This record gives sequence, C-alpha cells and structure tokens, in this order.
Amino acid sequence: MSKTKYYITTPIYYINDKPHIGHAYTTIVADFLARLHRLRGEEVVLLTGTDENSQKNIEALKNKTGKTEEPTGKEVQKYLDEMSAVWEKTWDTLAITNDDFIRTTEDRHHKAVEEFYLRVFKKGDIYLGTYVGVYCAGCELFILESELVDGKCAIHKVAPKAIKEKNYFFKLSQYREKLLDYIESHPQFIQPQSRKNEVVSYIQKFMEDTSISRENMKWGIPIPAFATDASAGEQAIYVWFDALINYLSGVGFGGDEKKFKRIWPADLHLVGKDIIKFHCALWPAMLMSAGLPLPKTVFAHGFFTIDSEKMSKSLKNIIDPTDVARKYGNDTLRYYLLREIPFGEDGDFSFARLEERHNSDLANGIGNLAARVLAMTEKFCGGKVPSVTASTHTVEFWASPALSLGKSWASYEKAVSDFKIHDAMKTIIDVVRFGDTLIDKEKPWALAKEGMTDRINTVLYVLLETLRHIAYMSWPALPEAAEKLFAVLGVKNWNKISYEEAKVWGGLKPGTKVKAGLQLFPKIEK
Ligand code: MSP
Repeated sequence: MSKTKYYITTPIYYINDKPHIGHAYTTIVADFLARLHRLRGEEVVLLTGTDENSQKNIEALKNKTGKTEEPTGKEVQKYLDEMSAVWEKTWDTLAITNDDFIRTTEDRHHKAVEEFYLRVFKKGDIYLGTYVGVYCAGCELFILESELVDGKCAIHKVAPKAIKEKNYFFKLSQYREKLLDYIESHPQFIQPQSRKNEVVSYIQKFMEDTSISRENMKWGIPIPAFATDASAGEQAIYVWFDALINYLSGVGFGGDEKKFKRIWPADLHLVGKDIIKFHCALWPAMLMSAGLPLPKTVFAHGFFTIDSEKMSKSLKNIIDPTDVARKYGNDTLRYYLLREIPFGEDGDFSFARLEERHNSDLANGIGNLAARVLAMTEKFCGGKVPSVTASTHTVEFWASPALSLGKSWASYEKAVSDFKIHDAMKTIIDVVRFGDTLIDKEKPWALAKEGMTDRINTVLYVLLETLRHIAYMSWPALPEAAEKLFAVLGVKNWNKISYEEAKVWGGLKPGTKVKAGLQLFPKIEK
C-alpha cells in the first residue's frame, strides 16, 4: 500500500538580508508539522527556499557595495549564492528538516515557469496591455492610489514609483466567480476562517487583471520567446508570478512528472498574513488557468512584535534566530515560538517571557520530571524498567494512567488538526503535570521505607512510560530533548515503529536498562 503523502511549504524568502525571527517562526511551524506527519508514517515533503528574482535583492547588493551602477550578472549570482547559503545554514542550525530547498534562479525552476507560462498562454489568459500606476519596490507590488497614505506606501513609508509601460497581463478578473465558488465550497481552503472575509472582499471589490511582466528588468525570468510581441520590448516575468510557481518546481513540475503527480497538490501552504491575497486569489487563479489542482489549505499566521514594538532596522530590534538558539538552546526557541504565540493570531516576542517559559515548562517541567523519574529508577529499581506484576494491575495504577494518556493524545491530535499548535504544546505540559502529581501522591521514597516493592515498581513503570509518551509528543517541537529521552529510556526503534503502535500504553519493555543523570534544560538563573 502506498503511503499517505503530506506536502507542506513555507513562503520562499527574499534574501536581501539574513533571516530574522519572523521568518524562523513560519519555518519552525512548518518543520513541527512535517515532523509530526513523518512520525505518522506519511511520505512528507517539506519545501522551503529563496525568492531570488526580486529587485529587492539587487538593491541590497548595491547597498552593500555602495556602487550606483547596475551590478553584472556574475556579481548578482555570487551575491545570491552567498545569501541563499546563509538561509540554508540558518535552517540547518534550527534543525529544520526540509526535504528540498528551491531557489528561483535554478534551472529546474526556470523550466517549470516556462512550462506553466505556456499553459496559461495557450488558455488565452495572457494579453499585452499598458500599465499605468504606481509600484512599491518594497512590496514588489503595483499598488492602488486608494491604498497610499500621504502619497506613500503604508508599509514601507516611501513614495512608490510612477510607471507607464507595456506589460503582459493575466486575466485574473475572469476567475472572480470561480474563485468565490471555490472558497465557498471548500471551507478548509483558507485558514483560519477569520481570514476568509478579507480575501473574499478583496476578490469581490478590488481584484483586477494583473500585470505579470516588467519592462527592461535585467534580473528575472524572461517572457518565453513563444509568447513575446516585438512591440513590448524585453520583458521579464513579474516576481510574484514567478515565485508562486516554486511550489510546483520544487516537486518536479516541468521535470519529474511522476514525482509531481504523486506530491501535488500541496496539503498546506503556510504563509504570513501579509501575503494571503497572493496565495488565496492570484495563485489559485493561476492554477485554474493552467489546469492544475489547487492546494488543499493556505494557513495564514499572524505577525509578532518584539517587546510590543514593530520589528524594524531603525529600532535595531531585529532578532537573529541563531543567536537565540545559541544562547538558550534550539529546543527552547522552538518551544517558545510554538507555545507562546496563539497560532494564526498576532503575538509578541519577549526574552523575559521566553525565559519564564523555559523555566516553568521545560526546566521545572519536562526536565525536572525526567531527572526525578530516572534517578528514582536507579535507586529503587536497579536502573532498569521494572516489571509490573499482575496483582498490581489495578484500575488505579494501570487503567487510569492509560486512560488519561489516551485522552491527552486525543487532545494533542485535535489541537494539531485544528491548527491550535499552542494548545498541543500545552497538552505536553499537562502530561508532565500528571507525572508530577503521581510522584507527589505516591512518594516512592516513602513506599520504599515500607518495603512496598510491587507498588514502587508499578508507579515507576507508569512514570517511565509517561516519559516515553512525552518524548513522542514533544519530538516534533523539541527534537533534541526528545531524542535524549528516547536514548536514556532505551527506546531504540522510536522512529521505525508505527505512530499508532507507539501511542499505545505499555510500550516500555521491563528489564531495559535506563540511564540516570540526564539534565535536559538547565534552569536560567536571573
Ligand atoms: N518572497 C515573498 C514570498 C513568496 S512565496 C511564493 C516574501 N518573502 S519575505 O522574505 O518577505 O518573507 C515573508 C514571510 O516571512 C511572511 O509571509 C511571514 O511568513 C514571515 N514574516 C516576516 N516578518 C514576520 C513577523 N514579524 N512575524 C511573523 N512572521 C513574519 O514575502
């Protein structure tokens, strides 16, 4: 039987600078979901990459060198290679398990864009027209006069460039009704639901045919020769039209058709709320025109501020995620972002909150429970998983924890499928509290004094088994800590057995050697 596939993407990032914590957020969430689906035994493709055919990148290179003249193709390629490597390396440092990394300057992408363009062109959805309007290079977007604030782009606070040029247009407005019908009949397409109205109102009121090329753009994919009109001069494909196609080129479109058929459509495009219109209006219309299936879900998460301030260069509050990972540990960074920011909503990043979360949930939570249980196993059970004798298979000691863990798994899975990732994180800590409470109630050291060996064995088995479940639940978020837990618990085949089997109560084998002395999350002292 072929495996269920799960294809998840992040936006491809502009590389005019190194990644900041906002970019890391999207990528970490995508990695969390990809890991979880891998544990479920699915064929997962996690795709990320870099958006390289953007004027923004060229401007950044010019700023860096201080030269006013246009850089040569070679200089641009060198800069893009270096910057793109910085992004790839960052994702490695943050333990992102992307299966591929797509760059829009790659050959495979150019081929896919040509193939896609051909389909849309053949459909009769591309025409030559004249664009008159204003363009914001920061947004890489033609903006409407009505969207300007004091004549400036509301986001970048600079006056956009007035442009009048011949451009190729995509008949986007022709897809208005089809898009509205699709959104209406596929409630899972735009998530969270609260974003749906924003997209629908844009499609109804503002969406027009869109220019998909730029005149005299040296850097960019040229309009394929079969579709050119001499009167238009040299034109390159508009960066968003080009960039969206990465979701196809990254899984074989225009090259490996077999792979493409198996993996496409995407199960989830994860994006920030700033780029939802591109993903929920332009992109599905492009796919409809090309005769390709639509992604199942586009989820837009919120933005976060830093200590309640907008992240910006002028405020000098841009956070490099690798600095945070180095200082606090990668697991702590990942956990904090997943737990603290209600997924889908705006949030705030604060080092004070990160330290609090680290101490309460990780150091005093998972770390402390693990250290105590392993030390007690060493002391009272000779450092081995104890056997539980039939006489102690009581409802209180056996069925009840099994039931409680079963319920925790159900809430964890429900939270994930409802995209409430922050709640899934909370469930892990609830399981930790269950273990803490059992220790407080049973006091194994007191049982030892009374020589109640059977009861100690049962209690410690339950606690060790609880740790095994915590390791499974937390691996997608806390891979380093979870793998250490599997190692000390002597669980060797943790990623080989089926997830369903792993979730069943009683998986630890009595007699397995268990190592004490594990310190997962040292407490941060003020
Ligand atoms: N290149 C386009 C995307 C093309 S996808 C076909 C782009 N790139 S970007 O480099 O600007 O990164 C965009 C993504 O970074 C946002 O959609 C969002 O996911 C993430 N974030 C950037 N700043 C952020 C915050 N302050 N907070 C949370 N996420 C943020 O747009």
